[in-house]
Amino acid sequence: MEVNPADIKKEIEKYQKKEGILIPLLQDIQDRYGYVPEQSIEIISEELSIFPVDIYGILTFYAQFYTTPRGEHTIKVCQGTACHVMGGKEILDYTEDKLGISERETTKDGKFSLERVACLGCCGMAPVLVVDDDFYGNLSLQEIDELIKKY
Ligand code: FES
Repeated sequence: MEVNPADIKKEIEKYQKKEGILIPLLQDIQDRYGYVPEQSIEIISEELSIFPVDIYGILTFYAQFYTTPRGEHTIKVCQGTACHVMGGKEILDYTEDKLGISERETTKDGKFSLERVACLGCCGMAPVLVVDDDFYGNLSLQEIDELIKKY
């Protein structure tokens, strides 16, 4: 999606004269574009007189933010303790190999983004992964192949 500077300025205006606006503003921009585009960082920097390096500091500190476009589907592989014990690392390694990307990357065709996450709150189903909002538990490596085909 093309960045429209007027849209970014409108987002900034919503927060005018408020304290601690940077994180909610970046969240709004990410909601709009699916990530925080570089062009929006330049606009925020100019409008709010914040150095770009400080904005990038926030973006890299908080795992919720992305600075590159996200895939159509997001696969989150749990690496919490229960999932780790039940083979979560193998699930992540296998998924990375199948997709040809590392965690926090997106496939070239824009289909999948991959993330590692801490406990998803369903440890009894370990190892667990989530595709968008769909949970899959007690996973085998073979099921990863089927899930990738399904989506
Ligand atoms: S450790 Fe994976 S769901 Fe809890």
